[in-house]
Amino acid sequence: MKTHIRKLTLFMASTSLLFIAANNYKDNKGLKDYYKKYFPIGVAVRPADFSSGESNLIINEFNSVTPENAMKMGPIHPREDRYYWRDADTIVNFAIRNKLKVRGHTLCWHAQTPNWLFTDSAGNNVSKEILLQRLESHINTVVSRYKGKIYAWDVVNEAIADGPEYLRKSKWTEITGEEFIEKAFEYAHAADPDAVLFYNDYNTEIPAKRDKIYKLLKGLKEKGIPVHGVGLQAHWSVSTPTRQELEKSIEMFSSLGLQIQFTELDISVYSGRQGGQLIQGQQQQQQKAEFTAEMEQQQLEKYKMVFDVFRKYKKNITGVTFWNVSDKYTWLDGRGRKNYPLLFDQELKPKKAYWEVVKF
Ligand code: G3I
Repeated sequence: MKTHIRKLTLFMASTSLLFIAANNYKDNKGLKDYYKKYFPIGVAVRPADFSSGESNLIINEFNSVTPENAMKMGPIHPREDRYYWRDADTIVNFAIRNKLKVRGHTLCWHAQTPNWLFTDSAGNNVSKEILLQRLESHINTVVSRYKGKIYAWDVVNEAIADGPEYLRKSKWTEITGEEFIEKAFEYAHAADPDAVLFYNDYNTEIPAKRDKIYKLLKGLKEKGIPVHGVGLQAHWSVSTPTRQELEKSIEMFSSLGLQIQFTELDISVYSGRQGGQLIQGQQQQQQKAEFTAEMEQQQLEKYKMVFDVFRKYKKNITGVTFWNVSDKYTWLDGRGRKNYPLLFDQELKPKKAYWEVVKF
């Protein structure tokens, strides 16, 4: 009898512990849990994020990570004969330990790219053949190292011009014309045939630029180049994009049979394109240091609208990634102006906009 009572007591204690655990989990739901039936929710990270309070936040809220800088050509391949793996490995290992997906970013870009890639020992431009060989070797080495650990790659980043030209002028176009784009996809596919390969760009809701990106992707698809998705960066602001343009972008790119990911989401509290960044030729706006009630309201409405659209198009969207963890650090800070573009404040607490995003 005594044994029975002891067993019953133990059983009751363990079920109530289970109940408490389940209940706690429910109370501690993160973005990834609210969006479980929609798409993974990711975040751009730096190794520094893992040794601070951000680490718990990342694990609780997100189920995917993108290295903010660590896998770009400059940081990861500073010299022809030298790769620097430490930061990228730290991020991938953190992700594996915590069962997070990893998006690789980025294999071919005009920025954060080392000079050695384009020049010979005399400092002159290398030939197209040599540049493509170097690109192939770079892509093969990086993609192979993380094969099976990185499920998707931003293969080519920002190749389309903001102005009237078609392609952005860069060392890539100067030496290879358009060819580097398709070659990059072919090299990545050869290195990891299972990886989902993306073309990634910003200002994708601006009709003139969107049309050019569409033309590029349509051409690649028609040629049978292995491109599987388009990354719409989503560096937006309280004034951009409109619901109509956002929906149009999703529909246009989906019509090419491409999956859509929003790869670098943030909503700047300053109005203007490109995340409200101060872009070339623009006057520096009046500096505002505070996150005002007006900004909070405008930002909350924009976040609410864009996530409403994301949910509507859940069949087309395979991921949404925020660009940085919290307002404590964001790439949009700078030139003396603090920004507040994310869903967590500087104390890592959810902002009002967060509760709008998870209320559906
Ligand atoms: O690594 C050096 C470090 O050695 C040096 O001490 C330090 C001093 O300034 O600079 C460090 O490099 C900076 C790097 O971030 C790492 O912090 C660069 O100056 C800085 O330009 C670089 O900015 C990154 C930017 O890309 C470069 O264009 C941002 O962190 C990163 O968020 C941003 O990300 C891009 C995406 O890759 C593509 N889409 C647009 C997005 C925002 O610009």
